Amino acid sequence: MKTIVIFVTTLDGKITKWGDPHVFRWSSAEDQKYFKKMWAESRLTIMGSATFDFDPVNPAPNTLLVILTKNLAKYADKVIPGQIEFSDETPAQIHDRFHSAGYEQMLVVGGPHVATSFFAANLVDELWLTLEPKIFGTGGNFATEMNLDVNLQLMSVEKVNERGTLITKYSVVKDTTAIS
Ligand SMILES: NC(=O)c1ccc[n+]([C@@H]2O[C@H](COP(=O)([O-])OP(=O)(O)OC[C@H]3O[C@@H](n4cnc5c(N)ncnc54)[C@H](OP(=O)(O)O)[C@@H]3O)[C@@H](O)[C@H]2O)c1
Repeated sequence: MKTIVIFVTTLDGKITKWGDPHVFRWSSAEDQKYFKKMWAESRLTIMGSATFDFDPVNPAPNTLLVILTKNLAKYADKVIPGQIEFSDETPAQIHDRFHSAGYEQMLVVGGPHVATSFFAANLVDELWLTLEPKIFGTGGNFATEMNLDVNLQLMSVEKVNERGTLITKYSVVKDTTAIS
């Protein structure tokens, strides 16, 4: 099963503007269209509770959204069997469960704390990063403050508008002996 982390960031790596969680206020229309398509097509999507609390989305039909939280009781009335579940499993346990169930892809849509826990557990295969030509200076980064050493290889880059929004896709290099 392939695990993909997806984010939209500024050129200085910010995933929120000055801490405001409303990403759609500054991300380009082209990125929003792309993200909605990725979201709708993802059979299995993983999200952190803080991102869900801010935007309690409904999953598309025939897709499963798993919200990671240690506080399962808080979300008991939000469960939709087969569509939204809440889990206190670790990233490795989530990965193993859905891998065993035959899923081919898992889309981790953030936020940064959850994405970083997947990077730290060495479970990420690809990073799909949209780069908006903006600089915010302050705001959250898509990796939280933790010592990481993740090596990536650019797979593709697409310029999707005149301003130069770039939709990039990187693979995570697991065999670091292959890096010079
Ligand atoms: N620009 C973008 O592409 C983008 C994408 C997504 C989110 N965001 C922004 O990111 C912000 C939220 O991100 P965040 O990093 O604060 O929160 P988050 O990653 O969405 O959620 C973190 C919370 O999830 C729970 N959790 C359960 N298992 C976890 C695990 N293995 N690792 C980490 N957390 C786990 C914990 O809460 P409990 O256990 O207490 O429930 C933790 O506090 C929002 O402002 C949102 O707008 C931006």
